Amino acid sequence: MTLQHFGWFLGAGFGVQGWGDPTYGIGYDWKQPQVYQDAARVFEASGLDLLIIEDGVTVPDTYGGTAEVNLRDARFVPKHDPLPLVPYLLSATSRLGIVPTLSASFYEPFTAARLLATLQHFAGGRLGFNVVTSGSDIAAQNYGLDKQIDHDLRYDRAQEWVDVVRKLWRSWDADAIVEDTERGVFADFTKVRTIDHEGEFFRVRGPLNTAPLPSEPVMVQAGASGRGQDFAGQNSDVVLQLASTPERMRAYRDSIRAVSAATGRNPDDVKVLFVVNPIVTANAEETASVRAHRSELTQAAIDEALQGVSYLSGVDFKAFDLDAPLPELTTNGNQGTLDNFVKSAPAGSTLREILQTRANKDGLAIIGTADEIAHHIGELGDAAGGDGFLFTGQVHPAHVHRTLDPLVPALRRAGLLRTELGDGGLRANLTDF
Ligand SMILES: Cc1cc2nc3c(=O)[nH]c(=O)nc-3n(C[C@H](O)[C@H](O)[C@H](O)COP(=O)(O)O)c2cc1C
Repeated sequence: MTLQHFGWFLGAGFGVQGWGDPTYGIGYDWKQPQVYQDAARVFEASGLDLLIIEDGVTVPDTYGGTAEVNLRDARFVPKHDPLPLVPYLLSATSRLGIVPTLSASFYEPFTAARLLATLQHFAGGRLGFNVVTSGSDIAAQNYGLDKQIDHDLRYDRAQEWVDVVRKLWRSWDADAIVEDTERGVFADFTKVRTIDHEGEFFRVRGPLNTAPLPSEPVMVQAGASGRGQDFAGQNSDVVLQLASTPERMRAYRDSIRAVSAATGRNPDDVKVLFVVNPIVTANAEETASVRAHRSELTQAAIDEALQGVSYLSGVDFKAFDLDAPLPELTTNGNQGTLDNFVKSAPAGSTLREILQTRANKDGLAIIGTADEIAHHIGELGDAAGGDGFLFTGQVHPAHVHRTLDPLVPALRRAGLLRTELGDGGLRANLTDF
């Protein structure tokens, strides 16, 4: 078992933390930065490399054509914008990488380049950004469109967006600011250039008007479709993917690395991190009871699962008979999630059978004692050949401590988790090993 990179994917975003948990709200208010700062401190002390904060810009109402379940159960909504949270997280920590999500479809590249450059100055190299393309029509309708543009075209546009953002970051030479008080020269004008970008989707003159970056933020992406993998492999420093079977995980990583190599990059510079959901129990008896509880396919559990896949894929799963096989499905939204869901049970399975299979074996859930989970993660890492894992879950303190207090020592005993983060920034920590 070899050392792995670990991080935390905050799937609820800067949103409701722990609704449904008996400890909900005790001692914290999810709308304020403190609960996230506390969690970030724990992640840093635990040796996690990074915290990624999900984001989206809708009140989801795909499931059953209404927002009832999402609002009733606080699923994906409400949430604040993650960018203003970043300085609070930076000030609470000194080595943890902080990664907000940003939509290439809805942020102009100049706005994004400027915001991220500013934050990277505060971050001293610890900033990352999770680039998403926001596949849903209801998101597009908040930005003046009738529907989201076609899936592959969205990625073409995102590619140009990344190119422009990077050109803007490079529009100042690193040594452009000279601050020569004797000559009375603040910045050397020969080291600052317009970019004069004229592309298919963007026209941007430049240069950027912030100070040159200490280093470019780490780019994170989670493309899963063929086009998405090309985009991720060509541009990203970190690629996220949901854990599934070791074979599928290995194939995914091989494909990302092949794209990286084909585009002239060193594949070792691209880290593929798989999302898992560790559920730590005290003993075998509790493990059995958690499994039994998850297997009960209550209406609440069905709603929970189906609202999620409906939101992410843009397909209304309430419209399907639970006891019939699913029809052939396609989406202009998040193709990887739809594919993962449909393929999680043998072809021809009913929707209920898919849900039953996923209840205990959704690929993400790893249920057991801390040492069992550490062992499983080590084996999965060896078999999948990945670079590491992201724990997913909300950051209400009960959940963070319930998970990491037992798991961190177990991962260290298994030789999987580093004992200390370096102080050279996120990219340096990620490429340490
Ligand atoms: C672990 C993970 C995290 C993601 N986080 C976000 C997010 O915060 N916001 C968002 O709009 N999409 C998010 N996505 C969706 C991806 O950005 C991407 O759209 C998705 O994987 C579909 O890509 P595909 O159509 O290439 O399969 C996430 C996906 C995964 C697997």
